[in-house]
Amino acid sequence: MNLEGKFYYKGEVIEGAIEIEDGKIKRIKKSLSGAKRIKGLILPGAIDLHVHFREPGYEEKEDFYTGTLSAAFGGVTFVMDMPNTAPPVKDIASFQDKLRRVAPKANVDFSLYFMLGENAEILKGINPAFKLYMGETTNAEGGEIRSVENAFISVHAELNECIRKDSKDLKDHDVARPESCEVRAVRKLLGRGKYHIAHVSSIDTVDICKAGGFTCEVTPHHLFLHRDMPIGTYGKVNPPLRAKWMAEKLWEELVNGRIDIVASDHAPHTIEEKEQEFSAAPAGIPEVETYVPIFMYLMKIGKISLHRAMEILMQRPAELVGVKKGKIEEGYDADLIAFNLSDIRKIRAKDLHYKCGWTPYEGFNAIFPHTVIVRGETIVDNYELANERTGKFVRVLGNKF
Ligand code: NCD
Ligand code: ZN
Repeated sequence: MNLEGKFYYKGEVIEGAIEIEDGKIKRIKKSLSGAKRIKGLILPGAIDLHVHFREPGYEEKEDFYTGTLSAAFGGVTFVMDMPNTAPPVKDIASFQDKLRRVAPKANVDFSLYFMLGENAEILKGINPAFKLYMGETTNAEGGEIRSVENAFISVHAELNECIRKDSKDLKDHDVARPESCEVRAVRKLLGRGKYHIAHVSSIDTVDICKAGGFTCEVTPHHLFLHRDMPIGTYGKVNPPLRAKWMAEKLWEELVNGRIDIVASDHAPHTIEEKEQEFSAAPAGIPEVETYVPIFMYLMKIGKISLHRAMEILMQRPAELVGVKKGKIEEGYDADLIAFNLSDIRKIRAKDLHYKCGWTPYEGFNAIFPHTVIVRGETIVDNYELANERTGKFVRVLGNKF
């Protein structure tokens, strides 16, 4: 399939044609006869290095089909799924079992993390992507710091020694798992190797990440939500939502280039679970379908440049793990998303594809992709599902970039 339209190519938006062969972009040309015209603005599909699609073990919250379907409708064409499933992905058998279950259900391309453990050197040969939970969080205990050469290690930086578990509301949750706890955790990693710090919730953490030569990500909830919103347990997440001014500072750090990427930390829980009293409700927020559309709206109204939005949502995350995605250039996978930037819609939980059926972004403005293409195959066409289960497992390269 060959396409033509307006797309982002090497730093500018051009009018041209994309020649696709075997799912890859073969050539960029001025025009191509017989190419299919795609309306609006065409961008590379977004890359989300942090999702919890819950399979196996917690399929009542989400499964790989609904998770990757939500990703597709939100313009995310490659996801990396976290290992805090049940059983946890911590050896070859659990990895193969998970891969066997989830691969036939994948609507977008995906990769899988291992828990970081003593067998990391062996596991790295299968897929050099690890998660280090330094302290306890939903479905995970704290693990030991290890360094692994040429592997991508995403770190949940909180320490058990500075966590209190019985928080009673969003403000108290912030106090119970303070910013200083995250800062302390990241300090412990200094000089120990190369790490990627997941979901930073404080600008002090960003400073230490920079000092340590680490890369870091921020989540949509730490940018767009804060602890004083009336959302109760639906805003309970680890690390916690902070004050509004901190969310604004994190936005500045993202736009000015000190935070490397945005990743969703899509972590759905059922309404029933979230309806429990605060201390009993599990931490985590669903995000994967809404964050790119919110960013597209913010880009449209001038809060962030197209260039920077592309770096943080697409190019840089792909580079960090070493996948040939995230750019519309020769040799890259033909993962493409297209937007009509005038089609601003209000986010409604009922329009989303999550199994959990809720979103904290109800009523937020967003611009959803009308077309989503994965390796040349149209998955979403005119906002409707066109093709399912065509996603493939992708082995990452580690942190060679
Ligand atoms: C995540 C989950 O629910 O799996 N929860 C969360 O609050 N972010 C686990 C995690 O990444 O901490
Ligand atoms: Zn985490």
